Amino acid sequence: MELVRTADELAVRTAAARGRGEVVGLVPTMGALHDGHASLIATACAQCGFVVVSIFVNPLQFGPNEDFAHYPRRLEADLERAGEAGADLVFAPGVEELYPEPVHVTVHVGEPADILEGALRPGHFDGVATVLTRLFNLVGPARAYFGEKDYQQLVIVRDLVRELRLPAEIVNCPTLREADGLARSSRNAYLAPTERAVAPVLHRALVAGASAIAQGERDAAAVRRAMRAVAEAEQGVRVDYLEVADPERLRTLARVDGPVRLLGALRIGAVRLIDNLAAAPGVNP
Ligand code: PAF
Repeated sequence: MELVRTADELAVRTAAARGRGEVVGLVPTMGALHDGHASLIATACAQCGFVVVSIFVNPLQFGPNEDFAHYPRRLEADLERAGEAGADLVFAPGVEELYPEPVHVTVHVGEPADILEGALRPGHFDGVATVLTRLFNLVGPARAYFGEKDYQQLVIVRDLVRELRLPAEIVNCPTLREADGLARSSRNAYLAPTERAVAPVLHRALVAGASAIAQGERDAAAVRRAMRAVAEAEQGVRVDYLEVADPERLRTLARVDGPVRLLGALRIGAVRLIDNLAAAPGVNP
């Protein structure tokens, strides 16, 4: 597996792969690779002849009080992980390579970038859409792989690709979980042991919501209360949101009349966790 740092080197490698008739796949990441990323890479390798993993901690998607400076950066370990999972190439550009100064062009995302995560992290999805547009342009993937853990991001990436007619298929992959239900995330590394013990409460809260729906609850406010009751029973947990939304546009629902997406974000100490779950009447989680 090869590491390249520049857009020019990347273009040579991807052109050669396409010349050999290989389908180019992209797994965009911010590094700190874990089993969730490894499973995205493995899925990409099963479907594509040449798999690029990008590793770039994108400054544009972090707010001024967020963890950009402290976000885990461990390229050596990531290269090993990506290679083991089967990647052909890691593209790890510097900031100046993706955002040569001066930056005049960014991407602005409308609904649903202004709710849920977007309401609490203004500009976050504009940053995600901007970096992905640049990465898609440089890599030219036929397929790009995203985890369902960042469900709102996935909805927005689908909008981005459809509306800008980026010639890539978006493949979504299920969330990988620890045995106790905690969704795999690079930010789990921030959890102190006592916080780690509490963290599965987010998944438990979502499961409680999905169970209520499965058993016939149709009032979304009651589902929200059921999720909050579970989350707030744990000491030191602050709920940012626990929502019942339509799975396509993520609009908040008053009633549950069919499949929905339950989405949650909470804070444990200084660590912020997000997760989501599909739910539907009559379907046990
Ligand atoms: O999900 C992530 O890790 C990031 O938001 C992404 C898609 C790599 C863009 O920086």
